[in-house]
Amino acid sequence: MALDADNKGLIQAIWTPIAAHADQYGAEALYRMFLSSPQTKTYFPNFDLHKDSPDIRAHGKKVFDALTKAAQHLDNIEGALSNLSDLHAFDLRVDPGNFTILAHHILVTIAIHHPDKFDSLTHQALDKFLAAVGCALTSKYR
Ligand code: HEM
Repeated sequence: MALDADNKGLIQAIWTPIAAHADQYGAEALYRMFLSSPQTKTYFPNFDLHKDSPDIRAHGKKVFDALTKAAQHLDNIEGALSNLSDLHAFDLRVDPGNFTILAHHILVTIAIHHPDKFDSLTHQALDKFLAAVGCALTSKYR
């Protein structure tokens, strides 16, 4: 499902305030994922997975910064995340199902922090955006 012009406008409008909180929102989304889907913890054996640990904050920032980059390249998400796609497919070998799980927790995190902006159309646009990021990061698996 491709992003249309309306989707792109809504993503860019909500992403500007999100980008300034990359470590906080990233940490929160990751912590929610680890808590609700503990099998995802197996990919991070050396991390301190306690709430707001420096590991979780640093990694959360990396994830949200990558999403910011994707939001700035909505016409070529796959190209913008090409290096990350190699990393997740060939080095980390993250099971593709986990991208849907993380996307869910990212959506919940954004909804909590930006309730005024998170109307149904923005929800739909972000859902499509995160699905597109997941596709880009799993595109090299086969
Ligand atoms: C929205 C989807 C995702 C994005 C944008 C994303 C982004 C990133 C980024 C930016 C890095 C750091 C790369 C570097 O240091 O060069 C990374 C590493 C990593 N990602 Fe992802 N990721 C996503 C989904 C996932 C999922 C679903 C998992 C597994 C449940 C996962 C597991 C990992 C692991 C294990 C690392 C290496 C961590 C380390 O040892 O430092 N990622 N990811």
